[in-house]
Amino acid sequence: MTGPQSVRDGAAPEGIWAAPGRVNLIGEHTDYNDGFVLPVALPHAARATVRLRADGVLRLHSEQAGGAAVELVVADLAPGTVDGWAKYPAAVVWTLRAAGYDVGGADVHIDSDVPTGAGLSSSAAIECVLAAAYNDLHGLGLDGPALARLAQRAENAFVGVPCGIMDQMASVCCTEGNALFLDTRDLAQRQVPLDLAGAGLRLLVVDTGVKHDLADGAYAELRAGCERAAALLGLAALRDLDPAGLPAALDRLPAELRPLVRHVVTENARVERAVALLDAGDLAALGPILTAGHASLRDDYRVSCPETDLAVDTAVAAGALGARMTGGGFGGSVIALVTAERLDAVADAVTAAFTAAGYAAPRTFAATPAAGARRLA
Ligand code: GLA
Repeated sequence: MTGPQSVRDGAAPEGIWAAPGRVNLIGEHTDYNDGFVLPVALPHAARATVRLRADGVLRLHSEQAGGAAVELVVADLAPGTVDGWAKYPAAVVWTLRAAGYDVGGADVHIDSDVPTGAGLSSSAAIECVLAAAYNDLHGLGLDGPALARLAQRAENAFVGVPCGIMDQMASVCCTEGNALFLDTRDLAQRQVPLDLAGAGLRLLVVDTGVKHDLADGAYAELRAGCERAAALLGLAALRDLDPAGLPAALDRLPAELRPLVRHVVTENARVERAVALLDAGDLAALGPILTAGHASLRDDYRVSCPETDLAVDTAVAAGALGARMTGGGFGGSVIALVTAERLDAVADAVTAAFTAAGYAAPRTFAATPAAGARRLA
């Protein structure tokens, strides 16, 4: 199989679906604490051309990986049996079957322009596009949140990353022109208009090129720390602690857990403040909230790194209204809110600072809020 037009033996494909990557405006490491997030879907997306097969074989080909297709027997799928990019689509088929859906194999061609290892949810995009395709082709009738939950279970149970629900909800439920205000406790969601162009603003994304690997244990340790703190405080989740109760709660915790709790509580408050500002149409006022969020991730949560700090500091010094790392951290991408006039100057300043520091040039682009998972053909 070499392309979408030849999914299997020249037969016509049954359909083409797309699901995007995302940036998160604010609300980092809050999703596994039942908290709030405010992601935006990127125009970059994974596209899957899918044709069902009746022989129980899942045949996967990636435009980016190239090479031969990966052939898997659906009935033999189990966590730990698939490596590399193919584990993401395989995870979704395994998860559907584990949930009791009578689904089988398919010929799948994936073509994605979501940068990988950049903290922009390239893996969630692949999971969500497969989930959307199987949902339609098998008439499963799953709604957006159910598809996102399924894709998250695929990542947790098959891929082995204990991620929260933000990336998958963003990839499925975001809509064009809006940020998604999501309560990760009950998946209550609201589309919040983000008319950057109307406000004369741009959202600059800087992919630092530093690869993170959330499976390496650091993410799981942070999550476990938050859960331990909540248990020590007698709370279902850190979401249940409000800013007024923070000082007293910190006094009751061991020193190593205090910064984690401080980040989560202040970050949830930053999301609510950001949404209030967007509702009021005051987009520029978002800037300082982004920068404060970065300081909290750098100093309290400690998931920043020299490259993301340099990108944030340089962007702000070059006139950005605010900037922060986005996503899980340990590298990945930075977002900066900039005026349209300063977009190029800020991007150039960050690139120059990277060169001066001896880092590889970052990839920069301006993001516009795009649509979530959808059928294209
Ligand atoms: C990764 C995870 C998300 C979320 C972010 C941090 O992207 O997949 O669930 O926890 O990190 O906000």
